[in-house]
Amino acid sequence: CGITACVGCEEAVSTLLSGLDNLEYRGYDSAGIAVPNGASLEVVKRSGEVAELARRVRRDRPGGTTGIGHTRWSTHGEPSDENAHPHTDCTGRVAVVHNGIVENYASLRDRLRASGHVLDSETDTEVVPHLVEEYLAAGATPVDALRATLGDIDGSYAIAMVVADSDRVYAARNGSPLVLGLGDDANYLASDVPAFIERTDSVVYLDDGDVVAIGPNHYEVTGADGRVRDRPVRTVEWTAEDAEKGRYDHYMHKEIHEQPRALEQTLQGRLGDGVALDDLADETLDGVERVAFVACGTSYHASLYGARLLIERGVPASAHLASEYVTAPPPARAGTIVVGVTQSGETADTLAALREAHSQDQPTLAVTNTVGSTAARECDDALFIRAGPEIGVAATKTFSSQVATLALLAEQLAAREGTGRGRPFRRALAALPDGVRTVVESDDVRSVARQFRDSDAYFFVGRGTGHPVALEGALKLKEITYEHAEGFAAGELKHGPLALVTERTPVFAIDTGHNTEKVASNAEEIRSRGGPVVAVGPADSPLGDRADAHLPVPDTDPALTGVLANVHLQLLAYHVAAELDRPIDKPRNLAKSVTVE
Ligand code: G6P
Repeated sequence: CGITACVGCEEAVSTLLSGLDNLEYRGYDSAGIAVPNGASLEVVKRSGEVAELARRVRRDRPGGTTGIGHTRWSTHGEPSDENAHPHTDCTGRVAVVHNGIVENYASLRDRLRASGHVLDSETDTEVVPHLVEEYLAAGATPVDALRATLGDIDGSYAIAMVVADSDRVYAARNGSPLVLGLGDDANYLASDVPAFIERTDSVVYLDDGDVVAIGPNHYEVTGADGRVRDRPVRTVEWTAEDAEKGRYDHYMHKEIHEQPRALEQTLQGRLGDGVALDDLADETLDGVERVAFVACGTSYHASLYGARLLIERGVPASAHLASEYVTAPPPARAGTIVVGVTQSGETADTLAALREAHSQDQPTLAVTNTVGSTAARECDDALFIRAGPEIGVAATKTFSSQVATLALLAEQLAAREGTGRGRPFRRALAALPDGVRTVVESDDVRSVARQFRDSDAYFFVGRGTGHPVALEGALKLKEITYEHAEGFAAGELKHGPLALVTERTPVFAIDTGHNTEKVASNAEEIRSRGGPVVAVGPADSPLGDRADAHLPVPDTDPALTGVLANVHLQLLAYHVAAELDRPIDKPRNLAKSVTVE
């Protein structure tokens, strides 16, 4: 979900709507705003996308300079007008938007109903304004009423609140991100910087336990005990244009095309006579003998890729789905560093895995795109992938930058044992942006997408680093086309999935130079069962001759071929989705940043 708020703006409603527009990648089931208007509040909310809300708001035209807004990815209660945020109390004087989960909402709702409150929605959030109402009725100030309410609720949250007759926004954070934007005579608050980057680049990242009262010219951060907390003001290093679509129809397409630039930023200043990861403290990698990655979704696939790069260099490594890591934590071992790979730095499952590692006294490192994120702050150290803002729900450029960052990390760790691949690999890494540029500009995959757009299913197979690329290719395709897609280790095909292969199920066979002849035999097995094969690999790959189509990747070090092959598969997913007229940047049921476990 996405929260946005403004205080002291010329027109709160248009500021809130543009903030919500910029945050829609965080959820788009329903949206709403609340604006104080003298002794009452104007609340407009609807199921559906922000555009729906905007149409409604244009009709109702609420005025005001202060307000809160929300775009929702449902957890409790279906997407509906009633379940949309903001939620209000019985008096209609308190409105709240919330991101996260109130775990004890059922007992709080019973308690509130017993004392006469009428709760209309099925959401966990609605208890919050009613609790605030009780504390206000007992004489508390709004900020104290919010603080007292936080004492009643269990769970994770980012909350923003407005109260009639007040020109302030009150907010609190515990486990879900919130960042304050400081403008001239106006201040902003949001789940993420893109909400207000066109208005200010001066920000304050709130921390867990922070409660903040925001006026047009001032703000005060306090803790649970009411004591003032100092939080540093930082400057965001990217601009509003970086977070806009520009000449592209979709963020995803723009971000695929941005990859050469993103990779240049990832690698900048980090390659020379050796690898220099200057963001890391000297002691971070001291004594590290093994690496355990924890991650979700695309970041998990990047982790699988990174683990292989480490293993190839003789450094033991494993990649874990973060949700499984917490379900059955592996035994802690001295010398293991737990590395959370997370674009947003806010994924609840990944944070939980990192906290589990921390509780076992294991050193932790965040590999993330987001400065100021929870992962970056909670881990012992952070390594930034520097890909720039990614808005499309389907992660693209961050995968490439994650793999490049993990390749740097692998080289750095291996160099100490003398098992690094040295200068030739560093040269290949430095040339990676150009290789990606060649793939992106060729757009060879467009005709393949057209050819196979009506398939029953899409399969992806590979070995070595080709395996995580196969998984990622399938994930991308299913996320944005809604078509059935699966990735397999090529060797596993004959152990089951081959039963699914028909002439209506193209198989994308990825050649990353690992056991190429065996991948080629697997391709033969597919073709002899009537399945079309699309080879994805170097121009001289032996797969090319045995395939119905060939998506060529430029020559590079075999360890990086997978990154180039993956770019073809990103474009494949994009073009198939475009052919099928899918809402590419906002796939149904998904959100970019999932802050619940
Ligand atoms: C969500 C997104 C995925 C993403 C995953 C992990 O599920 O839809 O695209 O890969 O979260 O996100 P993270 O920010 O931790 O990399």
